[in-house]
Amino acid sequence: MEKKRVLSGIRPTGKLHLGHWVGVLSNWVNLQDKYQCFFMVADWHALMSEYKSSREIKETIIDNVADWLAWGIDYKKSTIFVQSEVKEHLELFMMLSVITPLGWLFRCPTFKEQLVQLKDKEINTYAFLGYPVLQAADILLYKAHYVPVGEDQLPHLELTREIARRFHFIYNCEIFVEPQDILTPTPKFLGVDGRKMSKSYNNYISLDEELTSIETKVLSMFTDPSRIKNTDRGHPDICNVFSYYKVFAPKIIEEVRDWCSNAKRGCKDCKKMMAGILTEFMGERSRKKRELLKDKDIVISILEEGNRKAGNFASLTMKEVKEVVMGKL
Ligand code: TRP
Repeated sequence: MEKKRVLSGIRPTGKLHLGHWVGVLSNWVNLQDKYQCFFMVADWHALMSEYKSSREIKETIIDNVADWLAWGIDYKKSTIFVQSEVKEHLELFMMLSVITPLGWLFRCPTFKEQLVQLKDKEINTYAFLGYPVLQAADILLYKAHYVPVGEDQLPHLELTREIARRFHFIYNCEIFVEPQDILTPTPKFLGVDGRKMSKSYNNYISLDEELTSIETKVLSMFTDPSRIKNTDRGHPDICNVFSYYKVFAPKIIEEVRDWCSNAKRGCKDCKKMMAGILTEFMGERSRKKRELLKDKDIVISILEEGNRKAGNFASLTMKEVKEVVMGKL
């Protein structure tokens, strides 16, 4: 039987960090055998908010894709490509824009939030309002059954389904697949200061973080505030460091719980051990990335191959779409 399809994307707006790994990338890695996967660099989406520093996007693409490859995305199994290199994304974006009511976009919670959060970026633009329509085009173009995303993206998936339904209704056809989300098992993964891990909070550990810096950052983490002395019993379930154990050392999680809640080991020891686990996990991948980036042409040719494969699929869908909307000459 033909495998079901997955599509997902990451915007190349800066370095990737552990939040991306836990929230999205690790999910991608696990889906590669079961599904036909399309993993996309969403550079048009990046441009919508980063248009004033647009020249940085290209370099970020190479850096991010090197991370993907080093952290387990296998270009032989999955199609890795760049959105702006497959012209059909903008074509379908336009055709979906035609049928998308403005109200749906103004009502979108991410639009309202971002306008407030990214004030300095001046994203009160025509294109940015259409951000979810472009995302719908990305997904529908590949007739993706599943879309692995973080929780924050769920409104965009809902909108994608609504747009697909409206298209089918208006043009009396059944071209697209209504996509379902795949959420990561660990929806909450916080930065070293206990807030959401994010570039703008500067509380992140990047995927290629220097090993010494990993240690410094982990040692700076807050633990259970009620555990003042080593002899105090801790509450692992409210400790951010413990949540790192859940992700990066699930096998020893019960032991760590015992050390903490029965005051058998102190927080500093616990953090030191976590730093060791992370440096081992990340060090190997960072080395792989450095190796890859010695010759950027390798990354570029992997992308070119992916662009071609994605383009082949996308052009078939667009042919169908144009035909139901405009007919044949
Ligand atoms: N909006 C997504 C994000 O910010 C990125 C993205 C663009 C995407 N196109 C997509 C994700 C298609 C899933 C599917 O994370």
